[in-house]
Amino acid sequence: MKGLILAGGSGRRLRPLTHTSAKQLVPIANRPILHYVIDDLVGVGITELGIVVGDTADEIRASVGDGSAWGATVTYIDQKAPLGLAHAVLVAKSFLGKGPFAMYLGDNMFEDSLDSVVAGFDGSGAAARLLLAKVEDPTTFGVAELGPGGAITALVEKPERPPSDLALVGVYLFGPRIHEAVRAIQPSARGELEITDAVQWLIDQGGVVEHRVLNGWWIDTGKKDPLLRCNELVLDTVLPLVDGAVDGQSSLDGPVRVERGAVVVDSRLVGPLIVGSGARVSASTVGPYVSVGANCRISRSTVERSVLMEDSRVDDVGLLTSSVLGREATVDGGEGFGAQPVSVLLGDHSVVNVGR
Ligand code: DAU
Repeated sequence: MKGLILAGGSGRRLRPLTHTSAKQLVPIANRPILHYVIDDLVGVGITELGIVVGDTADEIRASVGDGSAWGATVTYIDQKAPLGLAHAVLVAKSFLGKGPFAMYLGDNMFEDSLDSVVAGFDGSGAAARLLLAKVEDPTTFGVAELGPGGAITALVEKPERPPSDLALVGVYLFGPRIHEAVRAIQPSARGELEITDAVQWLIDQGGVVEHRVLNGWWIDTGKKDPLLRCNELVLDTVLPLVDGAVDGQSSLDGPVRVERGAVVVDSRLVGPLIVGSGARVSASTVGPYVSVGANCRISRSTVERSVLMEDSRVDDVGLLTSSVLGREATVDGGEGFGAQPVSVLLGDHSVVNVGR
């Protein structure tokens, strides 16, 4: 079975963070989301991968390369505009050929392995197998309606009045009839070829559309709060290790990972926490649940529950919390040190002075 990863799109909801860079490369515990996606597929033996890319193709290629780091082969598939998930299948036709495939949205992350999702699909004759999860607010997802026998009877994309609380999760298994379906449907009101409409077409044509309900956590990381939540969940699994230099005036509580070349001076580190290579933390309290990217600088500040992307800086900030800082972004407390807690979402290279 081949794997199709969707890493195009425009990342509107994470703007300004992804105005300039791919949302699939936002780091969780200092690794791009897309790398976890590839781990999952390779973990179930799917090593022939196609990655659909758009405006941010160069960045994605630079991050993933030819896939050999995973023992996989990667074919990049250009999508000229983000015209929908079904459109991505349409443009990937020649890569996919006639066999079954797993489609994985490049901004989704899962706790569980895909073993039980994939098992038995190849050769089953089913037209599709979908993954569902109960969510609190189904209006922001594709939603499935189940009939009395428990089978999916209808799918609707981001409904105002959801027929159930079962959202479509970002992994789909398809048999070859999906190619007919994506050609048969029309663009939706938002101008996209919706994968939900394509699957509805399969159902209407009498195709077997199976589903599995997810047990572990699943997060669509394309929004700030789920991204931070995902960072927390993954940091909970990070193994402690001190590979950098921590001076005698500093203390470590809980699971803390200080990577090679990082320097910690006169600071309190509270796990779960990861301090990336080449980062420098001085006279600060950092953690819990912070991912400090490579070469970041934190001085005279307190930082908790945040993602700091590489080369970002936090200086003289009383409390930075629930924040995401893009690459080379700076938050400076200046003379306002000790003032109100600060929570920000900053794009690459942004500078914010939160002092008086
Ligand atoms: O996360 C699950 C949800 O994902 C499902 O419940 C929805 O049914 C499904 O439509 C999708 O909704 P989103 O609004 O979250 O999709 P988004 O536009 O964020 O795109 C998902 C991924 O696919 C993302 O990595 C970008 C990529 N993409 C998206 C489009 C529209 C492409 O590669 N090409 C595209 O044309």
